[in-house]
Amino acid sequence: MDVHVIRHDNRHLYSQILEDYFRLRHQIYVVERKWAELERPDKREVDQFDTEETVYLLGLEGRSIIAGMRLVPTTAPTLLSELFPGLSLNGPVRRTDVYELSRIFVVKNRRGEHAGPRAEAVIQAAAMEYGLSIGLSAFTIVLESWWLPRLLDQGWVARPLGLPIEIDSMSTVAVTVEVNERAWAEICLRRSVPGPVLVWQDLPVIERSALREPFAAL
Ligand code: COA
Repeated sequence: MDVHVIRHDNRHLYSQILEDYFRLRHQIYVVERKWAELERPDKREVDQFDTEETVYLLGLEGRSIIAGMRLVPTTAPTLLSELFPGLSLNGPVRRTDVYELSRIFVVKNRRGEHAGPRAEAVIQAAAMEYGLSIGLSAFTIVLESWWLPRLLDQGWVARPLGLPIEIDSMSTVAVTVEVNERAWAEICLRRSVPGPVLVWQDLPVIERSALREPFAAL
């Protein structure tokens, strides 16, 4: 699985894949997770955070989507600033060097894999690789609390921005996660991700990270 960086400057290359992606999000979040407020008549799960500034990391095998993640700059409206401000005691994070991660998923038949690197780990390593490539210092994430020990167990430094709150009967918490080479190397080594995974079709070479070998980053 390669993880493609899709942004406004190269999204013309991915029109059909993005169409499939928004329909898949409907399947995963509306149908499977039953997040009914996301339902739209056209059965595409698209919200106010899917804008020109949003970056998509999509794990593809050929033209099939295996996993996905969305990154939104915190200088723009985010889940944390607009929908869940109560999760951050000191107000929303708004910094040019911090992006919010959301909508992480793996297609159903590729979850819980044991042989080789899990798609779930690869997509998260890809987010860290992307963050390093464009010079971020942190991510924010609004997450269901069950995910927090998983972040820590993959060697990431996550700090709560406030207390967990029950939202739709699910304990939910906002965290910042440090973006640095160590975090990238830790997830690669702990989760058998062999190295850089990002594909930068038609994007400026200057942004691509110089990451090569996870051991070298420790
Ligand atoms: N509530 C509580 N625990 C959950 C969960 C949920 N909604 N979804 C997954 N988990 C737990 C599983 O119980 C499992 O624990 P176990 O290993 O002790 O059995 C563990 O997380 C791994 O989940 P699994 O789905 O088997 O595999 P994965 O690690 O490959 O994928 C996700 C994890 C979250 C990417 C995948 O379950 C997914 O795509 N879910 C739908 C999208 C989603 O809910 N994303 C998170 C919010 S944006």
